[in-house]
Amino acid sequence: MTNHLPSLLRLGVNVDHVATVRNARGGAHPDPLDVARAAIAAGADGITIHLREDRRHIRDADVAAMKAGITVPLNLEMAATPEMVRIALATRPRACCIVPERRAEVTTEGGLDVAGQAASLQPMVAQLGAAGIRVSLFVDPDPAQLRASAAVGAAVVELHTGAYAEGRPGELERLRDGARLAASLGLEVHAGHGLTYDNVTPVAAIPQVVELNIGHFLIGQAITDGIAAVVAHMKALMLAARR
Ligand code: PXP
Repeated sequence: MTNHLPSLLRLGVNVDHVATVRNARGGAHPDPLDVARAAIAAGADGITIHLREDRRHIRDADVAAMKAGITVPLNLEMAATPEMVRIALATRPRACCIVPERRAEVTTEGGLDVAGQAASLQPMVAQLGAAGIRVSLFVDPDPAQLRASAAVGAAVVELHTGAYAEGRPGELERLRDGARLAASLGLEVHAGHGLTYDNVTPVAAIPQVVELNIGHFLIGQAITDGIAAVVAHMKALMLAARR
């Protein structure tokens, strides 16, 4: 059932891994924009894409196509580099989530060191904010990082739920405490990374969290849940050819 009424908790669907599958064959299928539109029709409140420095999944053309082709807010995840700021300013997504990025990592492995990079982040946050882009910083639920995020002028923090998703003890408490502190600092609180059907409930229940961004699990589960329909359709086409 579609639900686009204003909600207490928004779902941002990250479609990066649709591009991963597309790029495996070098063609145009599956198209992240088609999947984004289907996700929106099913109730996604926003679409998230990460333009990585190495363009391993989302590419520059996807960013432009997504901005032009969807009706819900676009959240562009990006590293804090001049190139990415230039692309964000040209694209004007609703929001930018600044993430740490190392070339060799499989996914975003830890939160941004806002406290250690405050001097370079502050002007970037100001520049994006002045262009009307809501700036989010992807941080571990660490009090020093949350205070630094407020100090550099971010509107939003996205709490990194990776350690919680790996089952590390005490992480749910850290997320709860972090969400409370962030909200008390005037920050809007989002969360994401590694969330699945099995672990989403306690994070979704944290009252200060207003948005979850979920990608890999949803795209993987869509393959599992969708395979029956597409195999049946292909089989029907094949058999129809022999009638
Ligand atoms: N939020 C941020 C800032 C991310 O970098 C990612 C991964 O791209 C996600 C959420 C989604 O994580 P996952 O793909 O594990 O659901």
